[in-house]
Amino acid sequence: MDQLAYVGDNGKGALIYRPAINDDKRYNDRIDMDMLKSSIDEVYYGASTDVIEELLFLGGSSGGARPKANVGYSSEKDEIIHGQNILPDGFEHWIIKFPSSSDPVDIANIEYAYHKMALIAKLEMSECKLLESKNGLQIFATKRFDRIGNKRLHMHSMAGLTNDNFRVSSIDYGHIIDAAFELEKSAVAREKVLRLAAFNIYSHNRDDHSKNFSWLMDEAGKWVLSPAYDLTYSSTAIGEHSTMISGEGAKPGRKHLLMLAKEFSINKPEIIIEQVQEAISLWPSIAKDCGVKQSSIKRIQSKFRNLND
Ligand SMILES: Nc1ncnc2c1ncn2[C@@H]1O[C@H](COP(=O)(O)OP(=O)(O)O)[C@@H](O)[C@H]1O
Ligand SMILES: [Mg+2]
Repeated sequence: MDQLAYVGDNGKGALIYRPAINDDKRYNDRIDMDMLKSSIDEVYYGASTDVIEELLFLGGSSGGARPKANVGYSSEKDEIIHGQNILPDGFEHWIIKFPSSSDPVDIANIEYAYHKMALIAKLEMSECKLLESKNGLQIFATKRFDRIGNKRLHMHSMAGLTNDNFRVSSIDYGHIIDAAFELEKSAVAREKVLRLAAFNIYSHNRDDHSKNFSWLMDEAGKWVLSPAYDLTYSSTAIGEHSTMISGEGAKPGRKHLLMLAKEFSINKPEIIIEQVQEAISLWPSIAKDCGVKQSSIKRIQSKFRNLND
């Protein structure tokens, strides 16, 4: 059975699960715990290109559609450390996302370009970077916003909070706006979600399901919408957004954003929409700067929602 544990320097922090495997007597007969522990604790450390190579080898084939690794990263030294929970000075907690074999080769560049567009659209995001493997493979990296140094912040997703099965979800951005207001008790919370909805509509990010929205709680118990994450060009099997916009999943646009704004008394939604559209109109040049291939730039742009709609 798993145990719930508090982890943090001072006993405060996020709830995590810790497997109940410290019952040595039960397991000693069957496996050599020391040997197991030493392989679990094996630390990969070195220049980021070298460690990326090791991690690709470890996780490349079996880590799921888009394998990821939690690493310690030092931007000053451009070094990665993997396999340590408590990081030494100078390192921060980052997530690195590897492309799967079926992904376009510039998938990391595309996500990085979306990050740049999102910042111009005035969305808050954690620092992101493009790292490179020895073979020149580009890797998307993002600094973890649920860590402050080695401390954890409690994080909860829309899916978790509302018990929503994100695979067969029927939620609407209205539900997220509602949740944001309940948790943050501020009108700004509603605007932030509307901005995110506009960005996802106009940039064709249809994988906007309920696990891609989260809130963070600080030590004082105050909730705030997390920085945006997983913003990238994406489609879904049914060709619709995973989260509806005022009831519309297939062809949402300005009309639906304005309906949401009216429903939740969000002031001046036109300005939010305009700022987002302006950022998205910069796609070709931003994408080029981020190393996205010309063919991908065109393909993605051709899928964008008409900015007049
Ligand atoms: N910068 C970040 N800080 C903390 N957690 C993050 C960050 N980016 C992503 N995550 C967490 O990792 C999960 C997977 O990342 P995501 O970018 O959504 O990958 P995928 O493309 O596989 O869905 C997210 O659902 C979120 O819980
Ligand atoms: Mg995701």
